[in-house]
Amino acid sequence: MKILSIETSCDETAAAIVEDGRKVLANVIASQIDLHAKTGGVVPEVAAREHVLKIVPVLDECLEKGGCGWDDIDALAITRGPGLISSLIIGTEAASVISYVKNKPLIPVQHIVGHIYSNWLYEENGEEKSEPEFPILILTVSGGHNELILMTDHHKFEILGETLDDAAGEAFDKVARILGLGYPGGPAISKLALSGDAMKFKLPKAFLEKGSLNFSFSGLKTSVLNATKRDVEKIDEKYKADMAASFQEAVVEVLSEKLMMAAEKFPKIKEVHLAGGVSANRRLREMIQQKLEIFNKKFGRKINFRHPQSFNYCTDNAAMIAAAGHYLYKLTPKKFKKKTNIVPTTSFEIW
Ligand code: KG4
Ligand code: ZN
Repeated sequence: MKILSIETSCDETAAAIVEDGRKVLANVIASQIDLHAKTGGVVPEVAAREHVLKIVPVLDECLEKGGCGWDDIDALAITRGPGLISSLIIGTEAASVISYVKNKPLIPVQHIVGHIYSNWLYEENGEEKSEPEFPILILTVSGGHNELILMTDHHKFEILGETLDDAAGEAFDKVARILGLGYPGGPAISKLALSGDAMKFKLPKAFLEKGSLNFSFSGLKTSVLNATKRDVEKIDEKYKADMAASFQEAVVEVLSEKLMMAAEKFPKIKEVHLAGGVSANRRLREMIQQKLEIFNKKFGRKINFRHPQSFNYCTDNAAMIAAAGHYLYKLTPKKFKKKTNIVPTTSFEIW
């Protein structure tokens, strides 16, 4: 089954074609990063206008890259939210029109669920890894969301913990702004951190009350702000690199530690997954890998670690929406599968 998907929840106009929920035949992303770098963040109205200009060329390019015509596409999948409402409307309008005109089912997918399914994807010419095995413990880390989730089967989720204030990616973006590193902050901080000393600044790590699987990053962000105000005379490239490395280490330490706490709490889990924009962070991947090896030895477990196979599947993309849509469609009762029907999703999802 081939699904063509559209994702326009924020500042990426994206379309993809995915076969049987895993094999990516085409993945096109028109990024608006340059546009939003000028304002240091996304202005919703500007993002929406850009989606209007990009959506048709992106769809054309996607079909061409996937070697498909509309007749080859079995269904459409679309991000239904959460996201910037003015941006979401452009994608959902485009998908609804195509669904109606081409007579194809339309599957609405929740954005975070999409990120979760990025770990099912592999590239057409890439290696097909084994199908993930349930139950799975998932750490979602993005600009807008940050959760620990237990996934017991396809589209069966339980939220174990979430951020009480800023999401991890949001903290990266805000600290990058404080350090004058531009937008988006995550890649800029992780690059600068390579030349910094992560032990230089002692920054707070919020583990919250004992056993809590929730997160909080706003105190850490405020500490960076206060330190830079205090040290304003001393700030040079070395200072920024040390601060970037110390900040990244504090975030990564908390995220990986909470993940291990959850793994200990749920003895049946077979895999640990990382998903969302911050899953592109190499230091985070490295620390989870190291902690998991120690954990597996200590408890005699064989938990497998996955992160998206390509960096293109970490940040917002449409391929993940097609993957999630595929498995959702398989669970959908027959009566809803009629052509051009919008498949209801609420009964399968917790968000
Ligand atoms: O998943 P995503 O594209 O959008 C949301 O759904 O929010 O995530 C974007 C976030 C941004 O905050 C960005 O700074 C962060 O992911 N990010 C990173 C890295 N690459 C992107 N954070 C840390 N390290 C990275 N290498
Ligand atoms: Zn996202």
